[in-house]
Amino acid sequence: MVDSLKKPSFEELRPGIKVPAKETILTPRFYTTDFDAVAEMDISVNEDELQAILEEFRVDYNRHHFVRDAEFEQSWDHIDGETRKVFVEFLERSCTAEFSGFLLYKELSRKLKGKNPTLAECFELMSRDEARHAGFLNKALSDFNLQLDLGFLTKSRSYTFFQPKFIFYATYLSEKIGYWRYIMIYRHLESHPENRVYPIFRFFENWCQDENRHGDFFDAIMRAQPQFLNDWKARLWCRFFLLSVFGTMYLNDVQRSGFYEALGLDAREYDKGVIEKTNETAARVFPIMLDVANPEFYDRLEVCVGNNEKLTQIARSNVPKPLQLVQKLPYYLANGWQFVKLYFMKPIDVVHTHGVVR
Ligand SMILES: [Fe+2]
Ligand SMILES: [Fe+2]
Repeated sequence: MVDSLKKPSFEELRPGIKVPAKETILTPRFYTTDFDAVAEMDISVNEDELQAILEEFRVDYNRHHFVRDAEFEQSWDHIDGETRKVFVEFLERSCTAEFSGFLLYKELSRKLKGKNPTLAECFELMSRDEARHAGFLNKALSDFNLQLDLGFLTKSRSYTFFQPKFIFYATYLSEKIGYWRYIMIYRHLESHPENRVYPIFRFFENWCQDENRHGDFFDAIMRAQPQFLNDWKARLWCRFFLLSVFGTMYLNDVQRSGFYEALGLDAREYDKGVIEKTNETAARVFPIMLDVANPEFYDRLEVCVGNNEKLTQIARSNVPKPLQLVQKLPYYLANGWQFVKLYFMKPIDVVHTHGVVR
């Protein structure tokens, strides 16, 4: 009993291989797209910048970065109970998200080979980075006596199809938000070394530079396709993607605040910081930014947090599943309504600031 409390058990596919977390609306997605349409994209209007980014990828600054050092070689059994559970969940989510990037970029590089050499090589080199990131996280999971079977994940997950422009909005945002997430944890632990309870966080400084470069690549791609950014549809879609990325991260992280507490962070404050920075970064390329300083923004998200707590309580109850669904429905609808209201909050037009050095 005491042992099971200290070492939470996870469902295993086979010994040491964790059953992947159930897919929900909040878990990292796997994407696929119209590869031919990407291959045919004319990138000539921004060719120079894309070439410069490719040169950076080729330099491979982090070639020797992801090497496990002596600090990993110890028992991590003292990270136990709830902290161990949220640690494993964090590593799994991060590994899945990195691996999803790897699969998409690898497939793009394969399909673009011979058709669009600059883009094909950029995707190839980004998939190299993501494979390293995912591999490093999976190795970290093994410190907690678990691993993910990435081959199984490749076959068993469902893939969401997005047209190329939506892939670019989504991956651009996930790279940039990934950058801010990693660097903000790194900086916090730099000033609070007593909270650096596990060595992986030391790697985040150089790691996040990979994500930043990947984000810059998608920034350059979107600029090469100005029609993705300069009409009314772009405004509506950018708003949609900003809100879904910020909203799902906030709901996820508040639900797992124990992980951030273990690092001495407040999940809400941390997320607000990440959202503010990512919103500002995205404003350099997107035509609009969200008005996250308006208190209504977080007030509405907090209503969803409350609804999610109710949903969790229902899921944990002994009520039969079909009845649970009936009980859950009003909370799902209430969350949907909050997101509709959030979507219709007036965004901030930033087109006039483009080209201004900040
Ligand atoms: Fe990555
Ligand atoms: Fe990345």
